[in-house]
Amino acid sequence: MIDTHSHINMIEEISLDEVITNATESDVEKIIVPSAYPKDIDEVMTLIDNYENVYGMLGVHPTEVKDWTDDLIDKIKEFSKHPKIVAIGEIGLDYYWDKSFNDLQKEVFIKQIKLANELNLPISIHDREAHKDTFDIIKKYNKGSKIVMHCFSGSVEFARECIKEGWYLALGGVVTFKNAIKMKEVAVDIPLDRLLLETDAPYLTPVPFRGKENQPAYTKFVAEEIAKLRGISVEEVDRITTQNANEVFYERKA
Ligand code: NI
Repeated sequence: MIDTHSHINMIEEISLDEVITNATESDVEKIIVPSAYPKDIDEVMTLIDNYENVYGMLGVHPTEVKDWTDDLIDKIKEFSKHPKIVAIGEIGLDYYWDKSFNDLQKEVFIKQIKLANELNLPISIHDREAHKDTFDIIKKYNKGSKIVMHCFSGSVEFARECIKEGWYLALGGVVTFKNAIKMKEVAVDIPLDRLLLETDAPYLTPVPFRGKENQPAYTKFVAEEIAKLRGISVEEVDRITTQNANEVFYERKA
């Protein structure tokens, strides 16, 4: 399995060595760590050098855009020469928290889409309560980067629109929540060849560990739930999502 979106630098309850050991013991072969805050960019670079199965994404999260400065573009360009930087992310729009930065969010989002295009890197998208604007901006500005809707939170209809565009949807712990009816529908409806697994650790911990911090080792609970919902084996979910993740994140630096 590949945990395609995991903030392991934010896990506090256990050490990084434990995080990595637990993941390996749970058949997670690769962990991809996004940056959210500008300071994460340096942390991601350290992590990918320290742990063999850890890869990175560089970018600034929509809720942190007030800390954006244009010199980050040069920094990301330089750092993305590292062979273990596999995407730009997480970037996007978040209208849930503070709406006073919506215009700045759009501006920084567009800049980072263009950067990903220039670097020929896929993009991990954060979209919270901003489905329409996120969709429209990607359609308008993205020229050729593969798109992953991280922690997909839309309806089946929105999922189908994204699939039609050739985008991938990453599902995490939310799909295991008893009341996440919409997400379970999405998990059954979308074509398997568009599906990715993630944890978004340390957040969104799946059942049966809800309430504790999330970690990459818990990717298997997401896989198990999707397998159960679709009536297929966990091995199949594992095999196909791993293949998808390899296609998205590891087949571009030729
Ligand atoms: Ni995230």
